[in-house]
Amino acid sequence: MSEGEEQRPAARASEPARSREPARERGKTVHGELANSGHRVLAPDDAEVEAYLEVALDAAAPQRPHVDRPGGAVPRGEGSRGEPDTVVVLDFGSQYAQLIARRVRELHVYSELLPFDTPWPQIAKRRPRAIILSGGPSSVYEAGAPRPDPAVWSAGVPVLGICYGLHLMARELGGDVLSVAKREYGPATITFTDDSPLFTGLGPEQPVWMSHGDSIVAPPPGFRRTAQTASTPFAAMADPVRRLYGIQFHPEVGHTPRGRDVLRNFVLGIAGARPTWTPANFIETTVNEIRSRVDAHAHETGGDGLVICALSGGVDSAVAAGLVHRAVGDRLTCIYVDHGLMRKKESELLRGTFGQHLGMRLVMVDARERFLARLAGVTDPESKRKIIGDEFIRVFEEEAAKLGRIDFLTQGTLYPDVIESTTPETKAAQKIKTHHNVGGLPADLRFTLIEPLRYLFKDEVRLVGLELGLPEAMVFRQPFPGPGLAIRIVGEVTAERLDTLREADWIVIDEIKAAGLYRSLWQSFAILTPVRSVGVMGDGRTYAHVVAIRAVTSEDGMTADWAKLPYDVLGSISSRIVNEVPGVNRVVYDISSKPPATIEWE
Ligand code: XMP
Repeated sequence: MSEGEEQRPAARASEPARSREPARERGKTVHGELANSGHRVLAPDDAEVEAYLEVALDAAAPQRPHVDRPGGAVPRGEGSRGEPDTVVVLDFGSQYAQLIARRVRELHVYSELLPFDTPWPQIAKRRPRAIILSGGPSSVYEAGAPRPDPAVWSAGVPVLGICYGLHLMARELGGDVLSVAKREYGPATITFTDDSPLFTGLGPEQPVWMSHGDSIVAPPPGFRRTAQTASTPFAAMADPVRRLYGIQFHPEVGHTPRGRDVLRNFVLGIAGARPTWTPANFIETTVNEIRSRVDAHAHETGGDGLVICALSGGVDSAVAAGLVHRAVGDRLTCIYVDHGLMRKKESELLRGTFGQHLGMRLVMVDARERFLARLAGVTDPESKRKIIGDEFIRVFEEEAAKLGRIDFLTQGTLYPDVIESTTPETKAAQKIKTHHNVGGLPADLRFTLIEPLRYLFKDEVRLVGLELGLPEAMVFRQPFPGPGLAIRIVGEVTAERLDTLREADWIVIDEIKAAGLYRSLWQSFAILTPVRSVGVMGDGRTYAHVVAIRAVTSEDGMTADWAKLPYDVLGSISSRIVNEVPGVNRVVYDISSKPPATIEWE
């Protein structure tokens, strides 16, 4: 059992893997409710607004080919570089499995995360240059411990086993692994005992991060020891002839400072993968792919190949739209609904970027009055969400009807959304998050989905956005909920209260950015409370609004810590709000973490 991964549910490798393609209906939210029925979306950037457009268009789920790879659809020679060199990461349930894939991609080599029991023919279809076996919470001696297809060992593809992956390599190939009395967890110093191309350039010793209870006591035939620590005699082993390498430590985590060099030595050195996975190449390949798909569809059906996309202000839909626009130009129409619940200058930023700068066909719907009218008198948070979702759907239906026949719908589905719905139970149990964008319904579609970001992690999306020329203000923005400021006004949403909150929120963001903190915070914003309090201003007494400030750090929004903002930053936010926003005389800071509090107040 690997320590440090013990908070994970016990390995369930013996249980049948969850269906790889769960039948999930479209237009439903993460909790399975209708998109307009009031809910909270965990990856909030765009998912919610996209779900509304799906419902409005009555779209069904995409049918995905079994092996679906970037560049796979366009043969070489048609303006595409073809498929990138690929490193397959087999996921044995480690909390770090995704991180391994991301680290490989940082070396500009495409990396794909697959369930540990993926049959060899499916792995082979990816033509992997290398395979990495992740760590995991199991012990190789447990009944039903997860194992890969044995062809992995003999296919002639370089393999790197990390932690549990190393133990598997040792045990499956004839070595001995034992549960040791003294578990090793945390920092350790590793000493390299032999020349190994895996450790080129690292000197004789390195600090590394360990997290294991099992250890190798005898490496398999053909292997030699390449590193040790004070408590782990075989901290690394190698069979250079078969190009099989195993390491006990975790090179993917920040606590192993030279871990990236180890991965680089393996991926670029030992496996010789070409570092062609760059934003520029991705854009070129993806744009070609989208264009040929849309052209082929238009050719087959005699249609115009019209594509539609909902812009929410979030980074995913912005980048997705940017890619599709580069591919099909005016055949793409973006719809942006200004519901009046946006942050200050949001609509201007969108109009400037997409309409003026990129010259996109952009429909900006000014629906502010409609939303306000429907929200009048409503104070219950879930009712607000339902009303906003419902109105969004109506607006989209009306606008889409004006466009004529639409063939494609663009969505900003990301790679984690795709893999989280396809990985085995051991991994999936960890993640509460599912996504309405994935799943499989029969193909009686009116629309086909274009999901240009489905191979990308969020940080890659941002890099692609920058390469496409999107402004940093759009590419690096913090998440913002679909229902917008409506769920940050406790009580009734009115035009006046929205103006008050918008101004206060602008000051928060302005000061946080000025202090250089914006990107290190998950979210930072203002809330308009229903409380009024007494104050003094000049000679008179005031009885005015209390504004609350919320700033949190978080990895994924599922848990969050209140941010320990410097007092002077809090001080300038407070004095600016009280001085610049009419009707506010008091500012408080929310020092609750999630759980038990949520990030939003409603
Ligand atoms: P909570 O408040 O549940 O928020 O801790 C977690 C993340 O989800 C966002 N959020 C929403 N996003 N529609 C959305 O699209 C919603 O109704 C909604 N409610 C919360 C929130 O901003 C945070 O990032």
